[in-house]
Amino acid sequence: MMDLLIKNAVIATPKGNAPVVGENVKIFNGNIGIINGKIAHIGEEVQVKQGVACEANVPKARKVIDADGRLVTPGLVDSHTHLVFGGFRQHEFSKKIEGIPYLDILKAGGGILSTVEATRSTSSEELYEKAKGFLQTMRDHGTTTVEAKSGYGLDFETEMKQLKVVKRLQNEGFNVISTFMGAHAVPKNKTADDFINEVIESLPKVKDYAEFVDIFCEEGVFTVAQSEKLLKEAKKLGFGIKIHADEINNLGGSTLAAKLGAISAEHLIEANEKDIEEMSKAGTIAILLPATSFYLNKPYAKAKTMIKKGQAIAIATDFNPGSSPNFNLQLTMNIACIKYRLTPKEVLTSVTLNAACGINRADSIGTIEIGKNADIVIWNAPDLDFLFYAYGSNKVYKTITSFEK
Ligand code: NIG
Ligand code: FE
Repeated sequence: MMDLLIKNAVIATPKGNAPVVGENVKIFNGNIGIINGKIAHIGEEVQVKQGVACEANVPKARKVIDADGRLVTPGLVDSHTHLVFGGFRQHEFSKKIEGIPYLDILKAGGGILSTVEATRSTSSEELYEKAKGFLQTMRDHGTTTVEAKSGYGLDFETEMKQLKVVKRLQNEGFNVISTFMGAHAVPKNKTADDFINEVIESLPKVKDYAEFVDIFCEEGVFTVAQSEKLLKEAKKLGFGIKIHADEINNLGGSTLAAKLGAISAEHLIEANEKDIEEMSKAGTIAILLPATSFYLNKPYAKAKTMIKKGQAIAIATDFNPGSSPNFNLQLTMNIACIKYRLTPKEVLTSVTLNAACGINRADSIGTIEIGKNADIVIWNAPDLDFLFYAYGSNKVYKTITSFEK
């Protein structure tokens, strides 16, 4: 007896627990049985007839949702966000439109540093309510797991305040993965070298609050040498390591990621073919953020070349108040498809299975397969192409998450 049965579905899902180069999406008519928040049954019609009811293998269930020929996919995984922050930065918008570069705004004490001030002066309760609101709206848009980076404190106390908000959300059942990004910018009146040492000292104290450590390796922020120093220490302490690499300038952050065996290198707009070869050899996942390219009016990462060179890619929103005030992964998927020239199946793989690999969760999420968590989206779409062809409105019919039994 199932707790829940989703019947008459057009299921589109990648398969397995390992990163995929390109896609391995299977599409079939079927039904999905759920017991105790886990996928316990998959019934499959032998013949694929999209939009047609599936009567094959229907088990008994306490509750039934008739998808009525709708598309059903794994819950979307947003593998790169800066979820917890104070304030917003609409006052910088017209500067960006006038063409003032992102890094110049930061150099002048704005950008990340202005969100740092806002985050320091916002109470934990307020940060928690705000982040929770984002997560709920993200879920309404099909996102069931979210990676969240700290980095708007740049002092131990405020970083902990952000990390504790994430911990509280985790304890309430939200699927949030915590990353410590204490080295997100250089605080005013400190040198980058001194500050890196400070961040290194704080690592053991944040260990219970974060699974990964990330750093912004960029001109005017942290060098490759400083990034290497921090990430090596983090690795020694058992953190997984991530790096904001080659976003605006190619400093060599992606090759550093490969050299250190980072789980992911993120952004990569300026990564070149040699960088890509090294990352793919090392098995580092490339987490690409097309909504940031769109918003900053920058070039797009070479996603197609990456796939050709054997590189597994994930796609995420980069949700943050500066370079990507967008937590809609659906819209980000549309941008990825159109600007990277990827196929719908490649993009689906990048926001489900590969994204799960990028946060070390592929054993429990990212595909619709027996034994995985019941994080599932039913779409107001008859097939996968429709999801990418039509854009701009929320196409979720229903999001099901494993913690809602
Ligand atoms: O990933 N690049 C660095 N960090 C963020 C931006 C944060 C901000 O502008 O507040 C990013 O784009
Ligand atoms: Fe980011």
